[in-house]
Amino acid sequence: MSTMTFPLPFQKFLWKLLDLVKSLVNMGSISHSDIYLLSRDAVETKRLNTQHRFLVAISGNNIIHPSIPNNINSIADLGTGTGVWLEDVSKVLPNKSADLHGFDISSAQYPPDHQIRRPGQKSIPLSVHDVLRPFPKEHHSRYDLVHIRLLTAGLKKRRLRDWPNGYVQWEEVDHTAFCTDAVPEAAVVTQLRQSVINAMLTLGLWPFAPKRVHEEISAGGFCDIVHETYTTTGKEHLRGVAQKWVDGVMRALVPPSMVVTGEAKSEAGAREMVEGLVAEFNEHCDHARAMVNFGVVVGRKAD
Ligand SMILES: C[S@@+](CC[C@H](N)C(=O)[O-])C[C@H]1O[C@@H](n2cnc3c(N)ncnc32)[C@H](O)[C@@H]1O
Repeated sequence: MSTMTFPLPFQKFLWKLLDLVKSLVNMGSISHSDIYLLSRDAVETKRLNTQHRFLVAISGNNIIHPSIPNNINSIADLGTGTGVWLEDVSKVLPNKSADLHGFDISSAQYPPDHQIRRPGQKSIPLSVHDVLRPFPKEHHSRYDLVHIRLLTAGLKKRRLRDWPNGYVQWEEVDHTAFCTDAVPEAAVVTQLRQSVINAMLTLGLWPFAPKRVHEEISAGGFCDIVHETYTTTGKEHLRGVAQKWVDGVMRALVPPSMVVTGEAKSEAGAREMVEGLVAEFNEHCDHARAMVNFGVVVGRKAD
């Protein structure tokens, strides 16, 4: 375990976090990967990296929430995707030799050698690991901060039973909150959002993720809980990029959602329908602002 100048009781931290995530998932016949709505191709990899920069911009460049002391020496990122969050976090941590490690159930979006290389600094290893399964021993009691972002798209509704010690920073965007500042709401926006909500409810997923993460962390005995909602509202410089982000999320999420809800028979057919709807959404945005909200929940738990 790393040396910290503030009290961080991280006995079996990662181990317990595992139980936490595991308890969110219905461990029945449908496996986590079966219910992942997004693809992992080159287009999605590019979208994840662009999305990262957008989310960081909405949060005023607070990659690590300001309520967490900055003398962190070790971080695990669960469901790391391309590892882009870890790469950026390494640039802002005062400890340049901090121990960083990414985990994901799939290496499809990793660099070919499964590590992020940084000139003059140690590389960041990326492991293939299903966070619902026990971690190898070398990762137990090792991390000062566990970070999770956008994992609930694949987590089923369950109450939490067990909680980690130490810091957790869990970030979720409410994908179903696609909206603009137009009143009344444009029918196309309602239709796109409803497809995703219905698909998530059909699959037993969390359509209202930031609220749910906050409720679960509050109920779990954490202290120093912070729930911050970052928004594009009032950030005129993010107007164009917010619209592009929503456009990208709609293209990525709505076609598989329409297949789940039965609105389309195949993903190819759904993509064609969504093309038209997204074009309509973009036209609507000629006179309306796309709005995006992004929830960050931080908690600390002592033994
Ligand atoms: C929407 S992406 C977010 C990636 C990254 N956290 C980010 O914000 O850029 C969700 C990621 O979670 C991963 N994932 C889903 N289920 C997982 C599991 N059971 N264990 C580990 N990773 C998982 C997916 O493979 C995917 O890379």
